[in-house]
Amino acid sequence: MHARIAGTGSYLPEKILTNADLEKFVDTTDEWIRTRTGIESRHIAGEDETTTDLAEKAARIAMLDAGVGPEDIDLIVVGTATPDLVFPNVGTLLQARLDIHGCPAFSVEAACAGFLYALSIAEKFVATGSARCAMVIGADTLSKMVDWKDRSTCVLFADGAGAVILKATEEPGIISTHLHADGRYKDLLLYPDGVSKGFKKVRAGNVGVIMKGNEVYKVAVNTLGALVLETLKANHIGKEKIDWLIPHQANIRIIEAIAKRLDLPMERVIVTIQHHGNTSAASVPLALDAGIRDGRIKRGQLLLLEAFGGGFTWGSALVRY
Ligand code: COA
Repeated sequence: MHARIAGTGSYLPEKILTNADLEKFVDTTDEWIRTRTGIESRHIAGEDETTTDLAEKAARIAMLDAGVGPEDIDLIVVGTATPDLVFPNVGTLLQARLDIHGCPAFSVEAACAGFLYALSIAEKFVATGSARCAMVIGADTLSKMVDWKDRSTCVLFADGAGAVILKATEEPGIISTHLHADGRYKDLLLYPDGVSKGFKKVRAGNVGVIMKGNEVYKVAVNTLGALVLETLKANHIGKEKIDWLIPHQANIRIIEAIAKRLDLPMERVIVTIQHHGNTSAASVPLALDAGIRDGRIKRGQLLLLEAFGGGFTWGSALVRY
């Protein structure tokens, strides 16, 4: 059995924050943000809007697109680093909202690579016959974790959700997935507080995402460059076979470097960073859905998905859409 993408959906919060808006409260400029990152604006969740709220909207669209109902879904896997609650997990909260009952529902925590991790796990359930119709989500509200006074991070991160419905088929859809992690890099990109740390920094009002941006940048380019080549090699295919690169949207310069590694012109790369910013685990499924809905990605085409995040964690998928 193979897992094929039967439908996609995505959702972005209504509130848009432009670079000009940011200029009003942090020491930055539109020019700096655009030239260093490619970002022009991003969507920010409302104060009471949670990761599950965004995920639910994306999930409902994906279900409609795939023509499936609550009774069809037999697995829910959510990649997120920003759960509404510690437990129940976002998968379970989403399950209740969608009136789905009894199937396994859980979240995986792999920062910006969360969707690729979730997709890889769900694909294995489908391929082994443990699930026939899986919902895979990437959803995050990183805006709730950044320090809005820290210009080195607050201009980058944003909120959103993307969803994919996988169905069991005889023809390959998800051809292969490749996951990696290396915890030696834990200090380059992190949120330094949490449950068993006692939320001490949160209580002191002194916390935000910490990132050594230029060091992350170098590792991301090298690691993703190697990852895309590993993905092609594992499938014995040449670079020219890829129809679309659907990369994690962290920085336009990283995206361009990986496209170059694949000898792909930018016309064959789905780029959403200018209006999405870095939506963490949501970034790849948001870009995938954008490319499908505007008609660029067509059935039968070969897609290469990749993402890189804190940990570090990284992953790719070769997909026949
Ligand atoms: N506005 C204006 N200036 C800023 C700024 C901002 N928002 N943020 C940082 N700067 C300044 C720095 O203070 C520094 O000033 P200095 O030279 O006077 O010390 C200067 O800009 C250069 O900073 P640096 O961090 O070296 O810039 P950069 O070219 O590496 O770009 C990033 C910064 C974050 C855009 C880039 O490193 C990046 O994208 N890294 C990877 C991030 C990533 O992928 N993260 C997520 C993985 S999921």
